[in-house]
Amino acid sequence: MEKKKIRNLIDIKDLSVKEIDELIKVANDIIDNKEKYSKLCDGKILATLFFEPSTRTRLSFESAMMRLGGKVLGFSESSSSSVSKGESVADTIAVVSGYSDIIAMRHPKEGAPLVATTKSKVPIINAGDGGHNHPTQTLTDLLTIKREKGKFDDLTIGLCGDLKFGRTVHSLITAISRYKNIKFILISPEELKLPEYVKEEILDKNNIEYIETKDIEEYIDKLDILYMTRVQKERFFNEADYIRLKDYYILNKEKLKNAKKDLCIMHPLPRVNEIHTDVDDDDRACYFKQAEYGVYIRMALILKLLEVK
Ligand code: NCD
Repeated sequence: MEKKKIRNLIDIKDLSVKEIDELIKVANDIIDNKEKYSKLCDGKILATLFFEPSTRTRLSFESAMMRLGGKVLGFSESSSSSVSKGESVADTIAVVSGYSDIIAMRHPKEGAPLVATTKSKVPIINAGDGGHNHPTQTLTDLLTIKREKGKFDDLTIGLCGDLKFGRTVHSLITAISRYKNIKFILISPEELKLPEYVKEEILDKNNIEYIETKDIEEYIDKLDILYMTRVQKERFFNEADYIRLKDYYILNKEKLKNAKKDLCIMHPLPRVNEIHTDVDDDDRACYFKQAEYGVYIRMALILKLLEVK
């Protein structure tokens, strides 16, 4: 008998535009009809293997599975698993895939979730691999953009902060570049500019217009979306560089004075200092809504990968 092909989500490109649209449709339906979905994963188990810290991603995955009527197990730091005894990722995955129906994993090493797929009997979801990718944050971001802007085409998107190590930025650029007439304003200090490989493989290859600047206010009046990010302390090689760059951008009410009335301000969270709390009560602040949407899109994703109809 031919072995059944397992669907994983490692890179956002593993999903076609049509599949992303379908996931968003399901997530919107879940928001309106939560009860209808509350038993669909009865008897199923999600394992969350977090080799790196997380609040939103891990808890939203767990909340998603529980809201579908399933159960969860896992660990939230490698120190509480056999990794601390020297076990390899490959062995951990080979074992846990016998204990669960689907695995969400986060790892500090780029490519670790891809390696995991070679050892797993169940679908693997990349919940963040080093400074590389974070496809389920991108699904969350896309659901937020769809609900706030009603479309993905014809948007000018400012991405601000740590564009070098910010994996959410890399995945979001990859995903939204597939839509029409997208323009990016890439706002970062010189040291934290978007990696060349993302510019070459995504932006240049698809003829996407972009401008690089250090100044957050220079193009703020042109933006439909402003996506703020945290300087990724854990990816720095030396602390002095982090300290020098960590407060480079602090978005506040004053800096928003020329921004559009319907600007959508996003942030994958956690926030450190890059958005002042005086922005939180501005109607344009979408980041806490964005975090909540993460649960619904992950519910839709779990249903898809488990092929629950
Ligand atoms: C992001 C991540 O882990 O990459 N957080 C998240 O998943 N919501 C962003 C960050 O940690 O800065």
